[in-house]
Amino acid sequence: MKILSIETSCDETSAAVVENKDNFIRVLSNITATSLDIHATTGGIIPENAARMQVKYILPVIYKSLLESKTNDKELVDHNSFTLSSGSKIIDKSDIEMGNEILKNEIDAIAVTYGPGLIGSLLVGVETAKTLSMFFEKPIIKINHLLAHVFANFINRKTHEIKFPFIGLIVSGGHTDILLFENSTNYKWLGGTRDDAAGEALDKIGRLLNFRYPAGPEIEKRAYLVTDPQIQFKSPLINSDDFDFSFSGLKTEVLRFVNSNKIDTNSKNQVCYAVQKAVFDVLIKKTLLASQKFDAKMILVGGGVSANQTFRDKFSSLSQLPVLFTERQYSTDNAAMIGAYGLINPELVKWQDVLANPELYFA
Ligand code: KG4
Ligand code: ZN
Repeated sequence: MKILSIETSCDETSAAVVENKDNFIRVLSNITATSLDIHATTGGIIPENAARMQVKYILPVIYKSLLESKTNDKELVDHNSFTLSSGSKIIDKSDIEMGNEILKNEIDAIAVTYGPGLIGSLLVGVETAKTLSMFFEKPIIKINHLLAHVFANFINRKTHEIKFPFIGLIVSGGHTDILLFENSTNYKWLGGTRDDAAGEALDKIGRLLNFRYPAGPEIEKRAYLVTDPQIQFKSPLINSDDFDFSFSGLKTEVLRFVNSNKIDTNSKNQVCYAVQKAVFDVLIKKTLLASQKFDAKMILVGGGVSANQTFRDKFSSLSQLPVLFTERQYSTDNAAMIGAYGLINPELVKWQDVLANPELYFA
């Protein structure tokens, strides 16, 4: 089965072509346009701006991914992830004609994120997918963005390598959740954040320290430079007997520290180290707890924060079970993970039955 997938839940416009061949999930193309530069200037995402950029990029990204899927078809390489910047050549008429042929002749279904996310951004992807579905008579697969972060772990793997039951941990800019997956369709939400998501906390703390949005990568770089940790922040709820998190207090602690200390490069790095430790310790401890309680065979981690190498190393070294992380290029928002989920759960629906749902959680 070959799928065209579309992801527009927030500030990334992404389209991919993915295929399941002999139970191996392969990405034939994955094109992402990001409006991050615009959001960096405003210190965060303004939904109206994000939606405008989605409109600008959606067709170029879809057609580029269709065309790119052919170039890669003969190769078994996986460096097929590209970023389309505002300066890139926008598609022309012949690209559209060729893309239409590929869509008509080779694509079996269109997978699209229908929630959760920003309504303006989601609508761009959903309505485009519905239009293509109607015109080319291809069924739609509706995808929950959050679950797709976990299923991104199926990419470039044989499907049977993933053993159920597994614990899924989602750590992104908007969400922090632990789930138990009995199989690919049955899952149970075990717990999540009571306030800020892990990535959101990092981004807000980054703002206090004057870092560019999103702050996760810069916090990682600075924390890595620290060899003699001198400060400590509390790891909220680390000893509570549940699978909940709370990260908003950490931001207040950092604010207090910043207001009462001289802040130079070294102390900024120290704060980054202590913040990472506080966040990662509780994420790892509670996920391991869940895996023991439910006799999981593995742990699958997804979402932007899981791009962090320190987090990966620490998690793997503390776990007795295999911990899978998505390949880094598929950790932050991308359409390949939407397609991967669609390939694992190809529940085909008509375009008339698809509605964007910004509040979608775990249905
Ligand atoms: O999954 P994602 O791309 O978008 C959402 O669905 O939210 O996650 C974005 C989040 C941001 O908060 C960003 O700061 C964080 O992922 N992030 C990182 C790293 N790279 C991105 N956090 C820690 N370390 C990183 N290397
Ligand atoms: Zn995401």
